[in-house]
Amino acid sequence: QKDCYILGIESSCDDTAAAVINNGRILSNVVATQEIHEQYGGVVPELASRAHQQNIVPVVHQALRKANIDKNHLSAIAFTRGPGLMGSLLVGTSFSKSLALGLGIPLIDVDHLQAHILAHFIKIDGQTPPNFPFLALTISGGHTQIVKVTDYFEMEIIGQTIDDAVGEAYDKSAKILGLPYPGGPLVDKYAQIGNPKAFKFPKPKVGPMDFSFSGLKTSILYFVEKETHKNPNFISENIADICASIQFTIVEYLMDKLKNAVKQTGIKEIAIGGGVSANSGIREALKGAEKKYGWKTHIPKFEFCTDNAAMIAIVGELKYKNHNFAKNSVIASARMKF
Ligand code: KG4
Ligand code: ZN
Repeated sequence: QKDCYILGIESSCDDTAAAVINNGRILSNVVATQEIHEQYGGVVPELASRAHQQNIVPVVHQALRKANIDKNHLSAIAFTRGPGLMGSLLVGTSFSKSLALGLGIPLIDVDHLQAHILAHFIKIDGQTPPNFPFLALTISGGHTQIVKVTDYFEMEIIGQTIDDAVGEAYDKSAKILGLPYPGGPLVDKYAQIGNPKAFKFPKPKVGPMDFSFSGLKTSILYFVEKETHKNPNFISENIADICASIQFTIVEYLMDKLKNAVKQTGIKEIAIGGGVSANSGIREALKGAEKKYGWKTHIPKFEFCTDNAAMIAIVGELKYKNHNFAKNSVIASARMKF
């Protein structure tokens, strides 16, 4: 197979990203994170679309320059077709279609959630990709699911959230504690210096491999309101212990679900992805499970956990090799399912 250069483009939520991959290796990986949403305490879809439109050409330009390749050497354009915010997806989809048409090269549509999983197949020195079959735990601000992966494009969702995503649970808990958006990384930071057993929060009961997080947020809100009523400085005096207790509950919950999935499928190889896989608690728990339960775990480098275009490009390359191209009439799909 001849050398292939794939340009990946990601614009499903609030990160505009472009990357170039050559035979599984990253030549460039550029992300423009939209800071505009911080002041609103969450992603504002309308503003996200506008920022994508503003960023997309400079980001692609930078990715090509960093990869040190001429656009005429590209083999194909891979783009995120969904799921995500419709306005955001439209920007990346329309741009990718036009660029592919202009360059006269194939267009490849990519499922964002498959990309979070297949990011593990980006070639990195000293790292081995997962072996099929494996279980993928995708945990982000928009998604929480356990997927049984039997081949690159043979995936089955065996468990998922029935309400909020785990990243949302982190961000909403952080908001209750007065921390700025997105609060997940801050809760994680405080958690590392707090007592995880200081307070107890309930773990919602749903299907053995399913998740529910909306109740957790409510119980944290009631707890904090009650304690603040007694002591107005409750939050500031106990922030580390509160965060550590929240994190303990969430990580234990995620691990319970993984244990159920391992029991049900007999598969002990686990790969995580999505923004929340940057979390120190879940990383530690997974490493612990290697010794404790004999699991083999795959934890991506931080830059491939959060939304990025390298993961879109690697899926593009896998599809390119199978001549699996999109029609030029392809449309973005906010609720796309694999
Ligand atoms: O994958 P991602 O960048 O975007 C989505 O597709 O949603 O994930 C972002 C989410 C946010 O909710 C953020 O708070 C959370 O990942 N996150 C974390 C950590 N780093 C990012 N949550 C907990 N601990 C972290 N260290
Ligand atoms: Zn994502």
